[in-house]
Amino acid sequence: MVFPPPPTSAIDWSNVGFKVREVNGHVETTYSVHTKQWTPLRFVADPFLRIHGMAPGLNYGQQCYEGLKAMRTPDNKQINIFRPDQNAKRMQDSARFVAMPTVPEDVFLKAVDMAVGRNAEFVPPHETGAGMYVRPLLFGSSAQLGLSPPEEYTFVVFVMPTGVYHGVHPVDCLLLENFDRAAPEGTGSAKIGGNYAPVLIHSEAARNAGYNITLHVDSQTRTYIDEFSTSGFLAIKYSPEGKTKLVISDSKNIIRSVTASSVEQIAKDIGWETERRLIRFEECAEFDEVMAAGTAASLVPVKSITRKSTDTKYQYKYGDENPEGFLTLLNTLKGIQFGKLEDKHGWRFEVSEPKFEEGEGTADEGDVNAIQAL
Ligand SMILES: Cc1ncc(COP(=O)(O)O)c(C=O)c1O
Repeated sequence: MVFPPPPTSAIDWSNVGFKVREVNGHVETTYSVHTKQWTPLRFVADPFLRIHGMAPGLNYGQQCYEGLKAMRTPDNKQINIFRPDQNAKRMQDSARFVAMPTVPEDVFLKAVDMAVGRNAEFVPPHETGAGMYVRPLLFGSSAQLGLSPPEEYTFVVFVMPTGVYHGVHPVDCLLLENFDRAAPEGTGSAKIGGNYAPVLIHSEAARNAGYNITLHVDSQTRTYIDEFSTSGFLAIKYSPEGKTKLVISDSKNIIRSVTASSVEQIAKDIGWETERRLIRFEECAEFDEVMAAGTAASLVPVKSITRKSTDTKYQYKYGDENPEGFLTLLNTLKGIQFGKLEDKHGWRFEVSEPKFEEGEGTADEGDVNAIQAL
């Protein structure tokens, strides 16, 4: 068998969008508190999980998840996953917040490799510029009545082919003022479901009012920018001497964005100044470019930021165009991810040809805006 196989012809790759689709299946492993072992990885030809209704993952929000991407190189010769080691580490941090055992990095990497490898025909063609979204998920899975950690945990990896974006449209942003995403000493840095569901009512209301992206400030002082609801905050400032500075929001209550840290390294590599620090909300008036960084939508330029309580609207000069600094960062990031540029920092992990057990064969919608994706 030649690996990777070509992209399946069952999908119209010019019209994929960002929605749930059927693939070959997912990967599962379970951990027992008694044996202290993860079971060997299993490929399950089914999108459904069989879970006891009393599982703490369902009842008490004892779960955490990740999001990363796999892409084909030119000529579709190879499939790479982008920086999965970073997601493995972040998932370990998230798991500790909700009293779950951590998934060892090698188990995480093998599971992700298997999930992509066994669904390789669903990785979009290189020419489309799109990737496969990979969703690892860990949760307390054995039945438990009291609020104490259960005996069994389940780790699964799902994959989904995602869409092709023809250009990037700058978005309008609303600062959320009547809701705090993260408590000062809370769980804001953990990628746990409990940080996301409470935002939905606010982000949906904002979207209905014409704001495609929502922003959070720190809940203690309402002074510093934390992050967007599903992505990191980055800004660019040009100096009169022609120097470029990339500023990245830092706060202990935000998700450590792999996209933002990759872009930070790219900026350093091309000789820009970089600052990772607290950013006062009012500084938005001084930036030349603002963008959101996240796996699902990569980088998205922000064309305005509104704070309703003070009747403030910061507007960026580039309007509906894609600004220069943003394009430099996006093109370099995508170039590395898609195997067109040198991988100086070892960010690409090549997917290996899957091994099938004897007698085992491959088994054989709701639109979501990519910016609102996680
Ligand atoms: C709240 C939040 N911030 C930032 C990010 C960006 O992280 P990454 O670049 O690793 O996808 C995400 C998405 O994972 C997120 O959900």
